[in-house]
Amino acid sequence: MTSREGRCTRPGSLPLSTPHHVAIIMDGNGRWAKSRGMPRSMGHRKGVEAVRETVRTAGESGVRYLTLFAFSSENWNRPPDEINDLMGLLRHFIRRDLAELHKENVRVRVIGDRDRLEKDILALLEEAEELTRANSAMHLVIAFNYGGRNEIARAMKRIAEAVDRGDLDASSVDESTVTSFLDTAGIPDPDLIIRTSGEKRLSNFLLWQAAYTEFVFVPCLWPDFDKAAFSNAMLEYQQRERRYGAVPERDLALGS
Ligand code: IPE
Ligand code: IPE
Ligand code: MG
Repeated sequence: MTSREGRCTRPGSLPLSTPHHVAIIMDGNGRWAKSRGMPRSMGHRKGVEAVRETVRTAGESGVRYLTLFAFSSENWNRPPDEINDLMGLLRHFIRRDLAELHKENVRVRVIGDRDRLEKDILALLEEAEELTRANSAMHLVIAFNYGGRNEIARAMKRIAEAVDRGDLDASSVDESTVTSFLDTAGIPDPDLIIRTSGEKRLSNFLLWQAAYTEFVFVPCLWPDFDKAAFSNAMLEYQQRERRYGAVPERDLALGS
C-alpha cells in the first residue's frame, strides 16, 4: 500500500492464527451488579462463572496459555468486605474447580506477590500448582496479588542478590536475564490482552511482557463475557498485523 488509500480498510483475510497466549483483564463486576441493583459481591460471584466459560472456550480454541488478572496489588485499596469476598471466591474456585482442571489436563500457575497472602490461600495456590505440574493441555496462569511494577521490582532485587552472591555477573544482565527472574519465567509473552468493561488501560498488568502485545478492549462487563465475545476478540486479533518495529517484507519489495 503506497498511498493513503486503504489506511482505514481492513484486510480481507485473517493473517494471524490463534493467539498462543491470551491474557485477560477481567473488569466490570461491580458495574454489572450495580446496574442490577445488586451488591458488588454478586458481580464477583457471577464473574467466576465467566471464568469457567472462558477457560473452556480458550482450551477449545487451541489457546496454549490463558492468563487471568484476578486481583491486583492495588485492589488492597478496596473496602475490607470486598477484599474478603474476593479472597473467598478464589478459595471457592480452587476448591471446587481444581479437580476438574486437573482432569482436563490444565496446568495451573500463579503469578504475583505471595508475601501478603493468607496462609491458607497460599497453600491452596501451591497445591494447585503442584497437582497440575505435569499437565500439558493448557496453562492457566492466575495473576493474584499481581502488579507489574511490583513483579519487576522483586525481579530486580533478586538479580541484585544474585550479583552480590557472585552467582551473576552484573555486566551480563540483559533483557533475557530480567525475563528469567520475573514471575512469568518460562511463559511466553501474551499475544493478545483483552480488557472488558470498556476501560482502556493496563492497570499495572504484565508491564514488561506486554511490550509487543495486541490489545482488544471490549465494552461488555466481565460477567457477560461469553464464548461469542471471546471469539470476536480473537477474530479482531487475527486481523491485526504485528510488525515488531520492522518493515513488512512486501513493503521492502516495493522499495517504499
Ligand atoms: C473486576 O471487576 C474484578 C476485580 C478487579 C477483582 P471490578 O470489581 O473492578 O468492577 P468495576 O470495575 O468496579 O465495575
Ligand atoms: C484491574 O481492574 C484489576 C483486575 C481486573 C484484577 P481494576 O478495576 O482494579 O482497575 P482500575 O482501578 O479500574 O484501573
Ligand atoms: Mg474495575
